[in-house]
Amino acid sequence: MRLDRWLAHAGIGTRSEVKAIIKKGRVCVNGTVVKRPNVQVRVDIDCVDFDGQTIAAPSHVVLAMNKPKGVVSARRDARNRTVIDCLPTTYQRRDLHVAGRLDKDVSGLVILTNDTALVHEIISPAKHVHKTYDVVVDQGLPPREAFLKPRRLKDGRNRLYIPKPPRILRWEGTEARVALCEGKFHQVKRMFEAIGVGVVTLKRVAIGSLTLGDLSVGETRVLNTSEVASLFNAMPEKER
Ligand code: URA
Repeated sequence: MRLDRWLAHAGIGTRSEVKAIIKKGRVCVNGTVVKRPNVQVRVDIDCVDFDGQTIAAPSHVVLAMNKPKGVVSARRDARNRTVIDCLPTTYQRRDLHVAGRLDKDVSGLVILTNDTALVHEIISPAKHVHKTYDVVVDQGLPPREAFLKPRRLKDGRNRLYIPKPPRILRWEGTEARVALCEGKFHQVKRMFEAIGVGVVTLKRVAIGSLTLGDLSVGETRVLNTSEVASLFNAMPEKER
């Protein structure tokens, strides 16, 4: 692990703050001052000191948040409140990444973690982790076959792709519950636009079989290991 990441995970500062600290010569690895932030340090082998205090090897943390509308999924943003701003202060400096962003106007379940391998597993379509969304649209839904029909859509770079087949869990009037195992730019909104309906509200209610549960809007909680495992379980709900 990089030295700057070790210190940022331990809550010493943001990545840019710890880089500055390291360059000032305030950090030692195995008793020797190290001024390069990208030096690799080994968990369980190397000893890292900051201003003479040993900094324990960082541990992984996985959080679930019920993201409010109006908050951006970025780590920092000059104009908008971010998911990091919504965290309790003890987690704000822990170098957390968002595993699957939600648009600013979308609410619901977001996973934040400093475990970059876990981020990859949650967002990689190859891992088949389904993200489930509750959708309210602006007019009566057409027959569900329209939504299931493969269509070309544009991704965030205006490249065409055909979405992997979605699952429909509810399809009634102006309300749907759908699950996708990929997360291209505005994907759910664009899939509904492609069948001629506009999305009025969108909320992510589950990732794998982990649901929002009773997490209230804006709230965050730490996930235990069985909850993290449940991200990779098949969805419990049957199509109806
Ligand atoms: N699909 C969207 O259109 N937006 C999101 O935020 C997530 C999925």
